[in-house]
Formats: sequence, C-alpha cells, structure tokens
Amino acid sequence: MNYKFDIQLTAAPKPKPDSSSLKFGTEFTDHMFIMEYETGKGWHDGRIVPYGPISLDPAAAVLHYGQEMFEGMKAYKTPSGRIQLFRPYMNAERARASNERMCMPDIDPELFVGAIKALVDIERGWIPEKPGTSLYIRPFIFADDAFLGVHAANHYLFVIICSPVGSYYDIPGGGLAPTSIYVEDEYVRASLGGVGFAKVGGNYAAALKAQANAAAFGCAQVLWLDAVEHSFVEEIGTSNAFFVIGDEVITAPLLGTILPGVTRASVIELLKKWGVKISERRLRISEVVKASEQGTLKEIFASGTAALISPVGKLQFKDKSLAVGGGVVGKLAQRLYDTLYGIQMGTADDEMGWTVSI
Ligand SMILES: Cc1ncc(COP(=O)(O)O)c(C=O)c1O
Repeated sequence: MNYKFDIQLTAAPKPKPDSSSLKFGTEFTDHMFIMEYETGKGWHDGRIVPYGPISLDPAAAVLHYGQEMFEGMKAYKTPSGRIQLFRPYMNAERARASNERMCMPDIDPELFVGAIKALVDIERGWIPEKPGTSLYIRPFIFADDAFLGVHAANHYLFVIICSPVGSYYDIPGGGLAPTSIYVEDEYVRASLGGVGFAKVGGNYAAALKAQANAAAFGCAQVLWLDAVEHSFVEEIGTSNAFFVIGDEVITAPLLGTILPGVTRASVIELLKKWGVKISERRLRISEVVKASEQGTLKEIFASGTAALISPVGKLQFKDKSLAVGGGVVGKLAQRLYDTLYGIQMGTADDEMGWTVSI
C-alpha cells in the first residue's frame, strides 16, 4: 500500500550547516513527520509540517511512565546524487517488536518506511555530501494521553525528525579510530524478561550512570555484562559487540537482553559470506581476559548505525587495563567498515540488495 501524507512546507527555511563541522544530533532539518493514533480509529492524519516544539499536557503518560520507543537509521547521498536508506525494513520490524513489548499500537512496516521516505525526500537538500557524513533519522512513538493511572494509553504520536551528522570520530573524511571501553561489573542494562531487546528510552536513561563511570576512567563507552552473573559480555554502549579470538568471531546471542542491531545482522551475514567462523554464543569476560593474556584476542569491535564499525583499542576491567590488538585498527574491523560504508554510500556493489533508494 502506498501512503500519502499532507505536506505543509516551512515559510522560513534554516541555513544549512557547514558539513565539515557537523556533530552528532545537534542540528535539525526544516520539517518533521507527525501522525496520531487513537484506539478505535488507528493511525491517522499523517503529515509533514515545519520542525518545531510539540505541545504536551503535563499529565501526558510518556512524561510519567515512559511509554515510548524510538528508532535510529541514516540516509546517505551517493557520489552520483542518489539517496538511499540502509535496510529500513529491519528498523520497521524492530519498531514493531518495541511497540508490542511496550503495549503500544502496531504499525505497518510500509507506513513506517513510507513516512521516512516521504520526509527524507522533502529534506534531500539537508543530506550532507562530505565523506563520513549522512542524515540521521529518528522515528519515535510516545503516549500523549493525559492521565495518571498506570495503564496503556489510548492516544499516541508517531514523530520523525532528521539531523545532518558528521563522521563519528571527527576524522576528516570519515574512517576509524580505536576506542577505550569500560567493563561495567556493577550496574546492568537489561535482564531476561525485561526490555533489553526493545529500543525504549528507559534503557538509555538507566545506562547514564555507568556511562559516567566509564568517563571517569577515560573510556568512551561501557561494555555491559549479563544481569545474573555479571560475567557474560552483552553489548557496548549503543552498539553490539564482536570479539575475535583465534580464528573465531564471537557475538552475544539474541536472548532478549540485547538490541538486535541492523548493523550486527549485516556483519554476521558478511562474515558468513566471507567464510569467517562466526558464533552467536555466550562469552565470559574471563575468557576475553584469558585470550588477551595468551595473545589470542585479536580484535574487539562494536557495530551500530552511529559509528558503523568501532574498533576497541583498550578494555578497562576493574583495575586492569587490557590492550586489544596492539591498540591499532584490526583487519576485520577495517574490512567490515569499508564494505558496509561502500554499500551505504553506493560506491561498492550492493550484492545483498540492502539499500533502498528514495
Ligand atoms: C543498545 C544498542 N545496541 C545496539 C545498537 C546497534 O543497532 P543498529 O546496528 O541497528 O544501529 C544500538 C543502536 O541503535 C543500541 O542503541
């Protein structure tokens, strides 16, 4: 089904930022998408309007009980000027899983992706062109009913905003740089039966404390351990984690506590295609430390939409500082980055048919 939306263009377009000094998520485009849901009526009144504040009743459910979810993805401009999204239907399916877990209304993937395409089409002039830059897309749904009882709401808003973003590491032209990671062994991110697999705000608010611990050790991100034994590696900050030990690449299985990343799925598919041994299995942090001591820990890298592939150069675990892969960018991380970045930017063959043109 092809969805049509009303469009109200801004009368006051903003100046576009210089694409060589873009940060992450600080500038927003001229328009946003907004659509309403009401029990009995379904999703309705999808429209594109000038970007601006949303008025909320102080009793709006989202402000009290956090009934909301969000997604994150990017639009890329290829050297020939084509605009493309990377596997947007995977985001749409993940959004459905988040909605289901949060007792929020289901949304047709065609409507979800159709709204994104319609907004990005209007904002195509906002997609930066310098290497390493892109247009970050943030769809989100929240309960805006005014009530203080604890129950699922009857009214929701689905909003999409866009933000031109720069290279994650501030490296001119994009590229990779090894990061330092703090192994969090006190606070946990998610437990079995909880909401770890859903992309919901509460997961991120609960992570801020650990993020502050990491920063105190000079680390950029947190490596989360499981909530029961504080022993098995789960994910790194807002990305999934991969460990290369000997000739095996290991990543945490999708048991309900980690976010099923679109980049994670793509990395696994590429590794399989390349004939690299990839295991989705539980891995103890003690096994990682042992491999580091024995010299078999070749690489650790994170995968996610924001930084794509992010090599880890150092692990801080309790009072131990472990150098990973000699502190330089690993071969596999580099190959994955180059391949994925090439597909997203339209400079490499998209054999898997992962991109969707607008
Ligand atoms: C907690 C968490 N894990 C993993 C990821 C990576 O997911 P994706 O590759 O879909 O960006 C993200 C980012 O969305 C995240 O927030």
